[in-house]
Amino acid sequence: MSTPSSSDVLRRTGGRPVKSIVFDEPTIASRVAELGAEITEAYPDGDLLILGLLKGSFIFLSDLVRTIERPVQVDFLVASSYADGKVSSGTVRLLYDPETRLEGKHILVVEDIIDTGRTLRRLMEVLAARRPRSLAVCTLLDKGLAPEIRREVRFVGFQAPPAFLVGYGLDHAENFRHLPFIADLE
Ligand code: IMP
Ligand code: MG
Repeated sequence: MSTPSSSDVLRRTGGRPVKSIVFDEPTIASRVAELGAEITEAYPDGDLLILGLLKGSFIFLSDLVRTIERPVQVDFLVASSYADGKVSSGTVRLLYDPETRLEGKHILVVEDIIDTGRTLRRLMEVLAARRPRSLAVCTLLDKGLAPEIRREVRFVGFQAPPAFLVGYGLDHAENFRHLPFIADLE
């Protein structure tokens, strides 16, 4: 799990250079383990349903749930806020809705990165209407630009620099999700 060489990075990206590796594998793994411990501690009782926001959360969620040492259920949400570019359009579409009942359960929405928070704010309204016992968000990365969603964001992995990040689930036009580290694409 050492930091990859630049030739290794280029092999993984198909020749596209990255500006820098912002969070390497060991750094991510140790922070994810801390988040898992925080979540275990924060929910001493009740049913806990983890809702991963696809696609960006898929790697984070799969690592995170394995560090949570209490019973959980896992489902997913599919929303779409970005088309192919790097700029938020502000529109959110729900493409998949969890089939599980949310009423009376602790709901923890797992997100890859919060930028404007528009995607999440819309989702929180929809989920709150289903009367969960509690509703909170765990995001791996926070760009710190979304004060209106701050109250619900209970678990944050890292503060993100104001850059376009890829890897560990994060994409640019569907590419680079598979990188095991998080890089600044520039
Ligand atoms: P928001 O609605 O503006 O908070 O956008 C959040 C979503 O935009 C995230 O779930 C990501 O899918 C995407 N996004 C925001 N910033 C980045 C980035 O730096 N790299 C990759 N995707 C990003
Ligand atoms: Mg995306």
